[in-house]
Amino acid sequence: EVTKDWNGIDQIVLRNAQGASARVSLHGGQVTSWRNDRGEELLFTSNKAIFKPPKAMRGGIPICFPQFGGSGSIEQHGFARNKLWVIDENPPRMHTNVSHGKWFVDLLLKPSEDDLKFWPHSFEFRLRVSLSSDGNLSLISRVRNINGKPYSFSFGYHTYLSISDISEVRIEGLETLDYLDNLCQRERFTEQGDALTFESEVDRVYLNCPSCVAVLDHEKKRTFVIRKEGLPDIVVWNPWEKKSKAMADLGDGEYKHMLCVDAAAIEKPITLRPGEEWTGRVEFTVVASSFCCDD
Ligand code: BG6
Repeated sequence: EVTKDWNGIDQIVLRNAQGASARVSLHGGQVTSWRNDRGEELLFTSNKAIFKPPKAMRGGIPICFPQFGGSGSIEQHGFARNKLWVIDENPPRMHTNVSHGKWFVDLLLKPSEDDLKFWPHSFEFRLRVSLSSDGNLSLISRVRNINGKPYSFSFGYHTYLSISDISEVRIEGLETLDYLDNLCQRERFTEQGDALTFESEVDRVYLNCPSCVAVLDHEKKRTFVIRKEGLPDIVVWNPWEKKSKAMADLGDGEYKHMLCVDAAAIEKPITLRPGEEWTGRVEFTVVASSFCCDD
């Protein structure tokens, strides 16, 4: 189902037989909603989000490419999230053994002349967003180098999970890992002990993470399970009170109801030789209360 958003930009709504749904905007290829079969929204969107190009709206899953973060001549988190994508009517066959439900859409982004001025590397970026019969949401990104020379990029699915309250949430799967702390000039630390809980601003890149992590929401008795492939790192971000007050598109208390847990490739950029293709995949499942990735 293709509808228009309030800027007249096409958005695609996927709905499975049980009534779960996902909405994807051609602006940024951004997933802007994911609901379970009871109609509950699982992704956070700010009440102050600005649904207006050229910036990505605050919430859902902005695609960060060709860089995650903000350095060099490209804008913070890259340009892909600010571009108009098109529906890929003729996607090449997937070289993956992952099975899909019936409900998916294929999007395509190619660089404009302007993009090439800032980042002179030609690519075809194919994004498949799918909803399974169980209501799981998966995103598969495939980037092909159609340039004559090799190049590198970093990447992230900047995922705003909707949570009851930040003090009620913990992440399992990142214990004992090394991380780069963006709040301390990217200094490297090692996570100690137990599952990660939250008492203040967090902005970290966890390195070489396991392929499955779980975000447990104690109050909602709900767990997000995040499975990833081709994406070694996980960014954990919550701006907390002070920083959210400084952000025009985030309400003052809204930080309590969001947590970004982003499957990403940051520390070691991905390098593609001419003609080569990279695939990065993430899948989100919601299960009731406690869950362990080994289950
Ligand atoms: C996070 C970064 O992923 O995104 C933060 O780690 C950044 O440093 C945040 O502030 C939000 O970025 P933006 O560009 O969407 O406001």
